[in-house]
Amino acid sequence: MDIKTLADFCAKVGIAFPTAEIYGGFSGFYDWGPVGVEIKNNVKRVWWRTFVHQMDEIVGIDGSIVTHPDVWKASGHVEHFHDVVTRCKKCGRAYRADKLVLEVLGINVEGKPAEEIDTIIRKNNVRCPSCGGELGPVEYFNLMFETKVGPYGGVTSYLRPETAQLIFVNFPRVYLLARKRMPFGIAQMGKAYRNEISPRNFLFRLREFEQMEIEFFFDPKDDACPYYNEVKGKKVLGLTAEMQERGEKERPMRIADLVPEMPGREWMIFWIAKSVDFFVSVGVDPKRIRVREQLPDERAHYSMGTWDVEFRFDDLGWQEIEGIAHRGTYDLSRHQEFSGKSFEAVRPDGSKFIPMVIEPSWGVERTILAMLYSAYRKDEKRTYLRIHPQVAPYVVAVFPLVSKDGLPEIAREIYKEIRTEFRAFYDEKGNIGKRYRRQDEIGTPFCITVDYQTREDETVTIRDRDTMQQERVHKDEVVAWIREHVKNWRV
Ligand code: GLY
Repeated sequence: MDIKTLADFCAKVGIAFPTAEIYGGFSGFYDWGPVGVEIKNNVKRVWWRTFVHQMDEIVGIDGSIVTHPDVWKASGHVEHFHDVVTRCKKCGRAYRADKLVLEVLGINVEGKPAEEIDTIIRKNNVRCPSCGGELGPVEYFNLMFETKVGPYGGVTSYLRPETAQLIFVNFPRVYLLARKRMPFGIAQMGKAYRNEISPRNFLFRLREFEQMEIEFFFDPKDDACPYYNEVKGKKVLGLTAEMQERGEKERPMRIADLVPEMPGREWMIFWIAKSVDFFVSVGVDPKRIRVREQLPDERAHYSMGTWDVEFRFDDLGWQEIEGIAHRGTYDLSRHQEFSGKSFEAVRPDGSKFIPMVIEPSWGVERTILAMLYSAYRKDEKRTYLRIHPQVAPYVVAVFPLVSKDGLPEIAREIYKEIRTEFRAFYDEKGNIGKRYRRQDEIGTPFCITVDYQTREDETVTIRDRDTMQQERVHKDEVVAWIREHVKNWRV
């Protein structure tokens, strides 16, 4: 499937569509519709439950989006958070210079200095793909959105380009609130903003997007992971930096063989395993997942090693849906230096240290994209989303077969009971076949229909989205039936 098919489908059924469509859209910005907002909230809820509520080591925060400008000086984003850009002298179109060189010449120049890329463009006479015009000089372009704060715009600040920094700046306070435990992690979900040069591929590269991030702090002198035995034997499709340098492809390997000796190695392996498990738990096809170590040139300025979880799209190939970066002591040291405040933790023997940090960072939209891509099914009869009940917009739809003869009253009673526990949808309008198709399209796993037999023996039909099979269940048993089937649902 190509990404455009999925984008068209998502707009049609109310998952996501370009913002301000009536004004022609706004590149890099999307809105979520009635179906999409439910899916998105569900994914975030499952993530929070998995990593905050079910992990003793992790607490959550919710930081501000417009942030003190010094945060971004200390973090290195003012200096380093840029892409390389070139603009056509004739038509004015702007391009990410490294992507252009890759597309036109097949040369990977990611992370190379602007001057070097400029030389390659001149030497090979790369022209504007749109109009054939001459390209201007390759320059750095900072991706942060600036904003003026206060009535006279006295302070220039930024919309956060990652949620991570709000975690780092709050480390001293949250460390105390967490009673100085180590290792420990802080999680945050929320919007982030990047002024991408060429947003594209539907929800894949956006200017406004959401992140789900954890900064997991540990003592480099006491870095054993108590869960290591549970994860060390786990296998994934893996690709190390060395394999890439030798021109090899991904292959099934132990996660433990993906990560070399480094402080926090066991935790890095743990986070890779947890990450892959999370994707699979929300319905991302495991056959389309691989874990790839970033090459040194690709890494962000703070990273001493990064592993990307990637998803294979038929048309876009392997693309990052989560990055797991080892940020060392970079961020806490920088904030200590710039703020003059202590970012140290204390060991039981009283000695002090700056914790190291591993950062698993998910894109919410990319997670959903991979999930929907994995769930989308189309055959000669219908289109349906084979989506997991825990992230489906509705778990159940309830219909009266016809909207007369007392059936709507019974159906409404059942619907009201179900919705106290599950997200439910009620519909009594139109042909029953069409009502089923509509629910199939948005991924509702179960449809309950009240028919004439219900009036006689109080049973209803429950239809399974994937098999389209129906069974009769007594109306008093319906909630227990759903509970059981949701619990046992497997991708
Ligand atoms: N915090 C990592 C990132 O936003 O890419």
